[in-house]
Amino acid sequence: MISIIGAGRVGTSTALMSVLRGLDSKIVLVDVVPGLARGEALDLSHAAAVLGIDVDIQGSEDFSIIRGSDIVLVTAGKPRKAGMTREQLVADNASIINDIAPKIREYAPDSIVIITTNPLEVMTYLMYKKLGFPRERVIGFSGVLDSARLAYYASKKLNISYSSIVPVVIGMHGENMLPLPRLSTICGIPLTQLLPENEIESLKKETIEAGATITKLKGYSSSYGPAAGLTLMVEAIRKDSNKLLIASVFLDGEYGQHDVVAEVPVILGRTGVKKVIELPLNENERKKFLESVESVKSLIKLLT
Ligand code: 2OP
Repeated sequence: MISIIGAGRVGTSTALMSVLRGLDSKIVLVDVVPGLARGEALDLSHAAAVLGIDVDIQGSEDFSIIRGSDIVLVTAGKPRKAGMTREQLVADNASIINDIAPKIREYAPDSIVIITTNPLEVMTYLMYKKLGFPRERVIGFSGVLDSARLAYYASKKLNISYSSIVPVVIGMHGENMLPLPRLSTICGIPLTQLLPENEIESLKKETIEAGATITKLKGYSSSYGPAAGLTLMVEAIRKDSNKLLIASVFLDGEYGQHDVVAEVPVILGRTGVKKVIELPLNENERKKFLESVESVKSLIKLLT
């Protein structure tokens, strides 16, 4: 059973995409706002009925409804408003994570937990510490979206399908994100050999600023991109795909880092993160990755 905590735009979009992809026979939505999760579940159930998709969708304000989930998606949290940085969300969203973690531990102690709450690496770190689960079962979602955005913007510059591009973005989900065009390839050819320097720089800027651009245009943050990425990760777990994708995980020596969460390539399957992949970073890339990790560590210090 898939449980989605937070029946806002990301949570409900994820529920809908999970239904359409047939990822489970039972999907549960939880939200503290009275009636919201129940109403969204009913709306989604009617959509499934229209489409002839057999799925049991339930909603509640009571967390016990997640009992027995093997996958828990945490989409709850204050989203950014236009002009806000993800870092400004630390205090508000840390209290939400502190409230949710014990309930997941009680009702779904064997679940894989994927978090979208920003600032993503800090909230994933906090959730990992509060849950006490093995690190492979506490995963931050953002890298799938960040790397897809790199592929999207590169596809526009090269007039080639984004599905023909293998994008690499690591570090953290925020202003210190590290797109790696040198390691992003088309048929093994690095993007840095296919685009001039100025285009590479604009590609990196567009990728880093994509979330803020959407928030500025819509007046609130993205939902379809996160939902699509969560759905892809759930599918990799369900099918035990051993899929290589970018995720935020607790590092235990990888890249020379300990006691921090960072965005890195991983292999994702039935048991969660099966392996962290260490990239052959050059000196400049390693320096920037360390800067990215340090920015996460400075935010972790804000956690009281
Ligand atoms: C984004 O990058 C909301 O952080 C999310 O769109």
